[in-house]
Amino acid sequence: MTKTILITGGSSGIGRALAGHFAKAGHHLILVALPGPELELAQSSIQQEYPDVEVHIYPVDLSQPGGPDQVWAFTSSKGIQVDVLVNNAGFGTWGPLYAIDSEREVQMLELNILSLYKLTRLYLRPMHDRNAGHLLFIASIAAFQPNPYMAAYGASKSFVRSFGLALYHELKDQGSNIRVTTICPPAVPTAFQQVAGMNRSALFSGWLSSDVDTVARAAWIGYARKKRQVIPTRYLPVINVISRLLPEQLGIWLARQTLRKNLPE
Ligand SMILES: NC(=O)c1ccc[n+]([C@@H]2O[C@H](COP(=O)([O-])OP(=O)(O)OC[C@H]3O[C@@H](n4cnc5c(N)ncnc54)[C@H](OP(=O)(O)O)[C@@H]3O)[C@@H](O)[C@H]2O)c1
Repeated sequence: MTKTILITGGSSGIGRALAGHFAKAGHHLILVALPGPELELAQSSIQQEYPDVEVHIYPVDLSQPGGPDQVWAFTSSKGIQVDVLVNNAGFGTWGPLYAIDSEREVQMLELNILSLYKLTRLYLRPMHDRNAGHLLFIASIAAFQPNPYMAAYGASKSFVRSFGLALYHELKDQGSNIRVTTICPPAVPTAFQQVAGMNRSALFSGWLSSDVDTVARAAWIGYARKKRQVIPTRYLPVINVISRLLPEQLGIWLARQTLRKNLPE
């Protein structure tokens, strides 16, 4: 059955790659991202490759408090039923907390946490009324432990993972047909790296890193199989288990060792 998928941050990186999987399966898309040529390029390239797929775009800054309501107003005005909401838009900040621009970090928290929360609330209600739908949350490997030098970003992703998993269990408990899948990617070289000022960070070439196609494919399979959580590398499921057995201090030490390499001056 053809569905309509709303993907925040669908203009580039993981969101764009995931949009390709949904389009290939014949689903219609609404891509939401910051205004700019990337969003239009994503629309035209998908439409060219999959002419039968409808691709709407909606440019908006989701870190602004009214952003999610504008997206909702757009889909409502077009009478579009959103069957799958992919909460993917996000960015990171890196460095010692005192050195990070606090306004920028507040924007990040607005985007990574509040816009995701607001969109979920807006689209969950009609899904609940239809007793159908699927929510995808893009969290991070950073969600599993506190992250020195990415303190606020890591905490925002812990929110995403905790919220997504809690919602999964809540809906399951109610016997709902709405599915929730939380994805926890490792470091992936995308525009994320540049936006976070992490070009010199060792994180994106280390043994734990992955690539955007591998992550998007794992997320797609996780969605199709209605998985609760997807950790898209060979090693992360093992690390997930080990990290539960080891003291929290060790997880923090490992994160700190990786994140403090080549810090911005
Ligand atoms: N890359 C990684 O290492 C990594 C690892 C784990 C988790 N993640 C998570 O994966 C998600 C996608 O990241 P990515 O790696 O694919 O990065 P990306 O290529 O930078 O994509 C981010 C997307 O979010 C959009 N976006 C940014 N700020 C926005 C705003 N204020 N309002 C609306 N849209 C906005 C961007 O739009 P524009 O292109 O128009 O700016 C872009 O489409 C994020 O939530 C990130 O935290 C990434």
